[in-house]
Amino acid sequence: MSDILLADDLVRVLIDEETIQNRVGQLASQINRDYAHLESTLILVGVLKGSFIFLSDLVRKLTIDHVVDFIALSSYDGGESGNVRLLMDTRENMEGKHVLIVEDILDSGNTLDYLMRNFRTRAPKSVRTAVLLDKPERHILPIDIAYLGFTIPDVWVVGYGLDYNEKYRTLPYIAEMKPQG
Ligand code: IMP
Ligand code: MG
Repeated sequence: MSDILLADDLVRVLIDEETIQNRVGQLASQINRDYAHLESTLILVGVLKGSFIFLSDLVRKLTIDHVVDFIALSSYDGGESGNVRLLMDTRENMEGKHVLIVEDILDSGNTLDYLMRNFRTRAPKSVRTAVLLDKPERHILPIDIAYLGFTIPDVWVVGYGLDYNEKYRTLPYIAEMKPQG
């Protein structure tokens, strides 16, 4: 790791590239096993923008039948209960299909709670979640994660799809940011 030149507002590399790639491979293997005998195609729904790199690595390791779809949301912190708004909806019809939501990070739980409730109204066969990072200290709402990459402390992280004001999304590793004033 010593050969990585870290930007000034980053504290340290939290999860390096090799560790991420190995873990994503393990998650893909689990998904391949769990959905091996599907009678219908699995729909993977990436939550934009943060999940796009995780999703693209994950799907390229899947051997099962699947289609990729996307959804875009915006969330503002409206006090205790975060407010989630739909910006762009999915295109696939979920009725009678297995759905796997692919999300970058579970923080308060507002985003995934909104998505689970919204998708369940569309009569899918099942809805589960694959989440790269979990910050358990931040949860407000309980969320069931079927496939989890890593548990991390309550710090702001960037890289591998995650940003700070659109910065650092394409770093191949996940880094902790210095607290911003
Ligand atoms: P929620 O609070 O669980 O709804 O998470 C909302 C969204 O905030 C996540 O999907 C991420 O896009 C973003 N987010 C939360 N924590 C971080 C972080 O440490 N770095 C980058 N984005 C984050
Ligand atoms: Mg997100």
